[in-house]
Amino acid sequence: MKKIIIAILAIVLAPTLSYAGSKAEVLHWWTSGGEAKALQVLKDDFAAQGGEWKDMPVSGGGGDAAMQTLKARIVANDAPAAAQIKGPTIQAYDREGVVAPYNIDAVAKAEGWDKLLSKQVADHMKCDDGKAYCAAPVNIHRIDWFWANKKVLDSNGIKMPSSWAEFNAAADKLQAKGIIPLAHGSQPWQDATVFEAVALGIGGNDFYKKAFVDADVATLGGSTMVKIFDQMRKLKGYTDAGSPGRDWNVATGMVMEGKAAFQLMGDWAKGEFAAAGLKPDVDYYCAATPSNNGYLYNVDSFIFFKIKGKEKVEGQKLLASLIMGKEFQKVFNIYKGSIPARLDVPMDDFDKCAKKSNSDLNTAAAKGGLLPSFAHGMTLELGVKGAIQDVVTEHFNSNMSSQDAVKKLSAAVKAAS
Ligand code: GAL
Repeated sequence: MKKIIIAILAIVLAPTLSYAGSKAEVLHWWTSGGEAKALQVLKDDFAAQGGEWKDMPVSGGGGDAAMQTLKARIVANDAPAAAQIKGPTIQAYDREGVVAPYNIDAVAKAEGWDKLLSKQVADHMKCDDGKAYCAAPVNIHRIDWFWANKKVLDSNGIKMPSSWAEFNAAADKLQAKGIIPLAHGSQPWQDATVFEAVALGIGGNDFYKKAFVDADVATLGGSTMVKIFDQMRKLKGYTDAGSPGRDWNVATGMVMEGKAAFQLMGDWAKGEFAAAGLKPDVDYYCAATPSNNGYLYNVDSFIFFKIKGKEKVEGQKLLASLIMGKEFQKVFNIYKGSIPARLDVPMDDFDKCAKKSNSDLNTAAAKGGLLPSFAHGMTLELGVKGAIQDVVTEHFNSNMSSQDAVKKLSAAVKAAS
């Protein structure tokens, strides 16, 4: 009898015991209401398995500040166990020799991550020339979205726009009535977020790829880019005087409260609506910004660095396993506004905008429109990304002409590449 009880106890306690004492310092930039609520799911899961989470938040939407802090920590030879990170920066750190792919790769192999993820997402997560997982993906965010206050649109007879001309007409109408058409926070990354959605819409999928994946200087300096900057200038005219420097979630709040009609932002904005108890088609509308079956994707992931101490390595393994958990990916992403990175998570409990994101992603993938967000670090080395972002934000916040912006853009990318 005693033996049976011990055996049962061993089975029941096994997962808890194996990770008890695990530790992980986690660097991230999820500090807004919706972001923090989503991250709490991971913190709770980690604690439930006996892990000790050391929080290292670096506020600042889009993560530019967090990436600087991370760099400084790495230079000081003081890498955290895990850090939120994006795209090619993962492999750039691997080339510096500071990443520890073989700490979590065994977990990935045992759990069959190659079968649970699309190849595109899996490739972003691998180091050592694609041989080993060194990062774990939590989600897929879409960038090219319009969010709008339902009451404001309905009471002004405005529908969600299906072309940029329609958006401009709606914005002109709202502005004439004294309503702020576009809630925006003019920070470099937010300007770049808007810019890449406009570029995808006006330039098309192939143009986007040439400009922001291949960093093709002729494309960056061509006449299509002039039209894109023209539309950026129009959008600037639809923002209010308080826009410069405003945080993105404050801008989302303006849409929630009906102080502004639209926001152009990735679907982490939906995390804010959800945290405030608001629902699509009841309180707000979502629609993809106009494009030809395009979809700008942005995968949030955590990278694992070389670190000393068995309990820290165990912490990395536990984190990696939890991040890729099926139930975790469901609950986390419902809060976060994104969709799961794992392919086998049922979408039934997600809202209408998430379901649209999921089906649009598949359509875009089939039609060549599934493209990495440059504004969120999914393509281009950080130096080139920074060069583009600087010109975009300088143009947006000055009277620079579209022609001058285009000249500056191609010159800046040429210099940075
Ligand atoms: C993005 C990130 C999102 C969200 C957003 C605003 O780069 O992928 O998860 O946090 O920044 O902070």
